[in-house]
Amino acid sequence: MKRKKLPFSKEQINIITENYPTPFHIYEEKGMVEYAEKFNNAFSWNQGFKEYYAIKAAPNPYLMKILRNLDFGIDCSSLTELVFAEKMGMSGAEIMFTSNDTTAAEFQKAIELGAIINLDDISHIDFLEKQAGLPELVCFRYNPGALKDGNIIIGNPEDSKYGFTREQLFDGYKILKEKGVKRFGIHTMVASNELDPDYFVETAEIIFELIAELSEKLDISFEFANLGGGIGIPYKSEHKQVDLEYMSKGIKNLYNKIITGNGLKPLKLFFESGRAITGPFGYLVSTVLHIKETYKKYIGLDASMHNLMRPALYGAYHHITVLGKEGKDCNQLYDVTGSLCENNDKFAINRLLPETKPGDLVVIHDAGAHGHSMGFNYNGKLRSAELLLRKNGEVVQIRRAETIEDHFATLDFNALPDFEV
Ligand SMILES: Cc1ncc(COP(=O)(O)O)c(C=O)c1O
Repeated sequence: MKRKKLPFSKEQINIITENYPTPFHIYEEKGMVEYAEKFNNAFSWNQGFKEYYAIKAAPNPYLMKILRNLDFGIDCSSLTELVFAEKMGMSGAEIMFTSNDTTAAEFQKAIELGAIINLDDISHIDFLEKQAGLPELVCFRYNPGALKDGNIIIGNPEDSKYGFTREQLFDGYKILKEKGVKRFGIHTMVASNELDPDYFVETAEIIFELIAELSEKLDISFEFANLGGGIGIPYKSEHKQVDLEYMSKGIKNLYNKIITGNGLKPLKLFFESGRAITGPFGYLVSTVLHIKETYKKYIGLDASMHNLMRPALYGAYHHITVLGKEGKDCNQLYDVTGSLCENNDKFAINRLLPETKPGDLVVIHDAGAHGHSMGFNYNGKLRSAELLLRKNGEVVQIRRAETIEDHFATLDFNALPDFEV
């Protein structure tokens, strides 16, 4: 297997660790910005195109500020994420609210911020109306069921909890129209980490045809189609990055044929990608604490699955580089573990790596999405810091590490003497 490259050297990381102890996540601004610009350029043919960064991927205000500067919006799915958007000073059409099993407080906040509301279920029309009132513009999430294959992360569309059936879409937009809603959008997201660009072209075809049919049957017009997130990234060095130009060209041909060809109003295209935007540009840097040899050989890191749980959760592959040993033979078979009391706490199983020693620095690649953000506190583990490698080579801390005081902040030990047992 080919080795993946890094945007920093061992010497640079050694200097960084003088100020910031491992483990930490470090994001590379240059790579992220170049990719974001490539995304925008690929769809520049579409008037009103917008990518709403799925903030769940890496909810850091500094990363969001960089992306917002490139005209990205934010895709939120919870109250906290909406408040994050509010704290960023974002409002209105800059925010897409794609939630499911939504609370009244979440809808109320979304309405207060003027966010675009993407409903997950037909029953949410009434719920939203009662709890927060219906906005002028409403979007529905479509689940195409058997029309599309899913994958291991998101499951088969028919088994997935998300979205409206086709029939419900026709009923739902009719209800909205009767209730006086005038502006409509449609959304779908049926895959996660999908590397085949044709998958997204096929999805666009399903959505465009549906728009044509809904528009005709219900006499309504659509302002936008949100094609969701789910663009995959090359976690393995032999994987190929999704060709955005190719994908965009395929979608444009269908747009011309189905949307323009049917005389429909111009349609804005949206995405709500997270993984593709920050995933490849984030790295988890960790120090080897111990090498253990029993029935197998183990590299014990100072990072655990609470820093990056994808390998434990999905058996996901993340490339690993032992810093400074890039040129050495990968001739030792290791399990690379964290310290949780949980046997799944492994970043890699049976991974060939160069001979590794305590004190070596290890970099886990592609940790910039669903990495730090999926962190948790089991065993009282603390979330690590987030750093940013700026375009000019400077390194800034964009989130401090949690402290033990942060961890205990929700507990009142002072009240224990009054607690009778
Ligand atoms: C509704 C919704 N939108 C967007 C995303 C972002 O997906 P990805 O990070 O795979 O692009 C997700 C991911 O879980 C999602 O659930």
